[in-house]
Amino acid sequence: MNDKIFTADLILAGGIVVNSRARFRADVAIKDGLILAIGAPDAMPRAREIIDVASKYILPGAIDVHVHFREPGYTHKEDWRTGSAAAAMGGTTTIFEMPNTDPPTRSVKELREKQAAASKAHVDYGIYGLLAEDNIGELEGLITGGVNAFKCFMGNTFGNLPSPSTGAMLEGFEVIAPSGLRISLHAETASIMAWRQERLMAAGRNDPLAHIAARPAIVAAEAVARAAELAGWTGARVHVLHISSAIELRPLTEAKARGVDITGETCPCYLLLDTRDYARLGSIIRVNPPVREHSDSLAIWEALQTGVVDMIATDHAPHTPEEKQQDIIWRADCGFPGVETQMPLMLNEVAKGRISLEHYVKISSENPAQSFGLWPMKGRIEIGAHADIAVVDMERTEVIRAATLHSVRARITPFEGVSVTGIPIHTLVRGRFVQRDRSLIEATSGWGRQVTNIQRMPQAKPRNTDQTLAAALQGPFEALAGTAA
Ligand code: DOR
Ligand code: ZN
Repeated sequence: MNDKIFTADLILAGGIVVNSRARFRADVAIKDGLILAIGAPDAMPRAREIIDVASKYILPGAIDVHVHFREPGYTHKEDWRTGSAAAAMGGTTTIFEMPNTDPPTRSVKELREKQAAASKAHVDYGIYGLLAEDNIGELEGLITGGVNAFKCFMGNTFGNLPSPSTGAMLEGFEVIAPSGLRISLHAETASIMAWRQERLMAAGRNDPLAHIAARPAIVAAEAVARAAELAGWTGARVHVLHISSAIELRPLTEAKARGVDITGETCPCYLLLDTRDYARLGSIIRVNPPVREHSDSLAIWEALQTGVVDMIATDHAPHTPEEKQQDIIWRADCGFPGVETQMPLMLNEVAKGRISLEHYVKISSENPAQSFGLWPMKGRIEIGAHADIAVVDMERTEVIRAATLHSVRARITPFEGVSVTGIPIHTLVRGRFVQRDRSLIEATSGWGRQVTNIQRMPQAKPRNTDQTLAAALQGPFEALAGTAA
């Protein structure tokens, strides 16, 4: 045997490896950014460095398919360096970043600007391209130009990007479907919200709960149902972002049952907060979609257990404390940082026995990796996979404090003062520590790389390809010929 080849860079010794099916005691050897060996100590290769992680858990790093890092355009809130530092501190090794920056990521030129900003990242990343009314002609370019997924704002939120008409959405789905890239949906119907918010404002409602009145759960359910129909018709893969209500689970469940390739995420705020927290938190809790009733949280927890909701993400949405703290609810920016606190908050639920550690790995790593085409290189602790790892101490307790968040310009959180047990004490991205012993490794800014979708999977269920707008625009003969075939 060639010793050089079989010498590892690093061994994590004495830990407990976790995947969705099991946990087992094993050492993990890492070489050239990949996992080289998993097994008993005496089966390990030699290594340059051995780190004792006895009684700590070795999890695949979280994959958060929903963050906003604000650069370019809103760097007074966050930038790629601070946002990805927060991810590294939170045990998150891959993020997918949203296109509601300034300029929005709606063409290849803007994709290149986003990639330039992202070159500072501590962790690996996917980049979303925008699907909007005015950039249908850019979608092909974005696909070949290297976006990792698409985002469609069916309802307005920060950035106020106009939501596309259902007609534009359908054409967008037709164009994107053959690429296999997933389209993530901000599933709230704009016209309902605009109507209600105007009426509420006219009536003088300025209190935090007015925000829910403007965006009741029907807004989400209607949008999910409509998007699921378009996905089923076109064969496009879709993903429902930030599931906040019990009733949107119905169209989601139904679409899954008939084979639509649709996945869903929720975020810690929809699991851990509800209407009872509005009085205490005021405008800080304002987020789109809104935090809802306790009964909604219970239904989402259940759906997370049964697999109707596939994954946990954060909608990490940093704003400055001044932008968040407003007496008139309509003036408060929506969202709050989340990428740093997701894992501790969810591990705290593991510690309380609400969800198993194995299931946490499934919803934080395995399912996002599989749904977004990163599997089998990411999302698992297996030989040959990227060594993207969160080493977790399930005995350690910390108190969440906005003042210590690495999103340094957005130090405000609805989880202020919450005590959490279960902390990522080291984070490795492709074998390199980006966080070690609860300290950020500053020098790893720039280590993060854009992910490649390993499976540019052909669309799961090609549907109605003969009835696309693009085919019809070719003329009646081509369109009819398509129908006959
Ligand atoms: O509250 C939100 N804020 N929801 C979103 O969907 C977007 C986000 C933001 O970018 O601030
Ligand atoms: Zn978002």
